[in-house]
Amino acid sequence: MSKTKSAFFCQSCGYESAKWLGKCPSCNNWNTFVEEVIVKGSDKKEKDEWAEYKRDGKLKTISINEVSSAEEKRILSQDAELNRVLGGGIVSGSIVLVAGEPGIGKSTLFLQIGLQLKDVVTLYISGEESEQQIKMRADRIGIKNENFYLLTETDTKTIFHEIKKLKPQLVIVDSIQTLQSPFVESGPGSISQIRETAAELQRFAKETNTPVFLIGHITKDGNIAGPKILEHMVDTVLQFEGDRHYAYRILRTLKNRFGSTAELGIYEMGSEGMRAVTNPSEILITQKEDALSGIAIAATMEGMRPLLIEAQALVTQSVYGTPQRTVSGFDLRRLQLLLAVLEKRGGFHFGVKDVFVNIAGGLKIEDPSLDLAIVCALLSSYEDVALPQHICFAGEVGLSGRDKGGKPYRTAYSRSRKAGLRKNHRQQVQRQKFTQAKNQY
Ligand code: TYD
Ligand code: MG
Repeated sequence: MSKTKSAFFCQSCGYESAKWLGKCPSCNNWNTFVEEVIVKGSDKKEKDEWAEYKRDGKLKTISINEVSSAEEKRILSQDAELNRVLGGGIVSGSIVLVAGEPGIGKSTLFLQIGLQLKDVVTLYISGEESEQQIKMRADRIGIKNENFYLLTETDTKTIFHEIKKLKPQLVIVDSIQTLQSPFVESGPGSISQIRETAAELQRFAKETNTPVFLIGHITKDGNIAGPKILEHMVDTVLQFEGDRHYAYRILRTLKNRFGSTAELGIYEMGSEGMRAVTNPSEILITQKEDALSGIAIAATMEGMRPLLIEAQALVTQSVYGTPQRTVSGFDLRRLQLLLAVLEKRGGFHFGVKDVFVNIAGGLKIEDPSLDLAIVCALLSSYEDVALPQHICFAGEVGLSGRDKGGKPYRTAYSRSRKAGLRKNHRQQVQRQKFTQAKNQY
């Protein structure tokens, strides 16, 4: 007699329940429960595992002092950004989850990283694309590598069979949502499938000391649970983010058992794959001849890297009843707070103005030291005075309108404003002289 066991899983957060629920008690989403079969018809698997326990009767528990503390071996990839994000190279036996929205460039980046590793036998398992498609992409990247192998397969049994024959030194799985384990009946991409296939790959990684990269999709609001439920199982979680419409991509560490989580790598998507950006500030700041109002250069820290970025603000007279506040790359609530500070402490009337704020390059910055630059950009646009481009701002603005050291934001602004006005004045005088000269002719 075979027994089938099933449970209901929230597709949003992975919460498991024996009964169907309308609202998930964990993430409060409605209508997210789907029934999934967790144990297939026969209970053969359990038997197998028990048999294994019985077979090797030797003690598995050992004293911590007996464990050799060998320095973990790392494979150095050609990609300096990836090495840095991983804390100094790919650790053998590690399992790394790379999460990102569809179309952001995960497949491109990891195909490229695999192709660059000429001395390492790499197996790229794709459940999404055909061999031809991957080949076309590889041609586009333009790197040839004899040691790079492709496998388009979704069944884990076949995959492990192939792995046994090939004995790769690095495995890349694109994507974990397409894999299917024969031990679980529900469809690929379901919570129990993702859990099971990842667990199988994890066992493989630990037992053979082969590093494995798992690529996983997330949607904009992080709603598809897939990668989220894996975060505790893997050694490292990398998030690949950026706007699909901009060329810049950021590879960020969310969790790392072998290094710091404050690291980040910056890439630029080009026509021939990803290019590591070593000096991001150069591209993030639009250098213009004439300084324009509403632009302030901010100095922020992203991970361990200092970045100079351009904060842009546009303040206009509001035409509708409710003034608009639109932001991109910055927190809307933070902007409202800064506007309230300016209104109350500075006496600027933003209540009747539409305010638009943008961080150039499509970056999303959470560093509070960006505040001062935003405030200065807002005031610069409010007063229509351009700030000189050689000044950069860094500082958190508190509710009192002062920074931590007690200096009011106004000091920074008025100093640069004066410099801006002097420059404006010089330009005006030049322009007047020019018109005078023109009129004389
Ligand atoms: P892809 O790696 O397929 O994204 P993901 O695996 O995260 O879903 O890449 C998606 C986009 O990248 C696609 O729209 C095409 C573009 N692209 C380039 O701009 N340059 C390139 O060299 C390649 C290979 C792709
Ligand atoms: Mg892909």
